[in-house]
Amino acid sequence: MADDAAERTARYKREAAEAAVERFFQAGMRVGLGTGSTAAFVVRALAARRERGLLLDVLGVPTSLATEALARELRVPLTTLDAHPVLDVTIDGADEVAPELSVIKGGGGALLREKIVAQASRRVVIVADVAKLSPRLGTHWPVPVEVLPFGWRSQQRFLEALGARVTPRSRADGSPFHTDQGNLVLDCAFGPIDTPVSLAARLDSRAGVVGHGLFLGLVTDLVVAGPSGVEHRV
Ligand code: 5RP
Repeated sequence: MADDAAERTARYKREAAEAAVERFFQAGMRVGLGTGSTAAFVVRALAARRERGLLLDVLGVPTSLATEALARELRVPLTTLDAHPVLDVTIDGADEVAPELSVIKGGGGALLREKIVAQASRRVVIVADVAKLSPRLGTHWPVPVEVLPFGWRSQQRFLEALGARVTPRSRADGSPFHTDQGNLVLDCAFGPIDTPVSLAARLDSRAGVVGHGLFLGLVTDLVVAGPSGVEHRV
């Protein structure tokens, strides 16, 4: 039963990713490649198109070391934001998607690079299975906050004072999770967030907080897949 549900979710993720690649990636583009299991389907769909002789001149900017490794394994050519500071489109996954296309990201810990790449993109497409849809950010998912290791317990206190239940992220073996930049992630359960813009402003202005998973006003398109098929929302 649980396996069936996991297989269905994986199928929805793959369907959303394939539909987005077909719709948004075009010849000659410089594209951002997101992180996570849905974004991995995007890289695979791009590689499959290349095997058919399509999109051969598309160059990708990976948002994590994991995505970089997958792209290299599948022979998807890569570039950097330094070589191409403006990208045509980024396709990435998300953890929670609210109706106005604000999202929480960072379940895979790549939130900082993901946001840098999204902010450098003309178009930001989120691919998701239908279970990610939520009436309000924070309902189902904590906000990941990336902090410098220096003084991180002060950041924990700051976040608790903002109303969060804070869980320092750890690996399966219990050791601290470190991002690709060597920082820590504090997962902050706020519950449904009434004013995400002011919360984001508080987080943005705190020294030692280097990133957070609230992506507000950045996403241009959502491709979501579920039992009734694939839907594109703007
Ligand atoms: C990684 C992310 C991912 O896009 C997000 O966690 C969704 O992951 P998945 O596609 O595996 O459900 O933000 O930092």
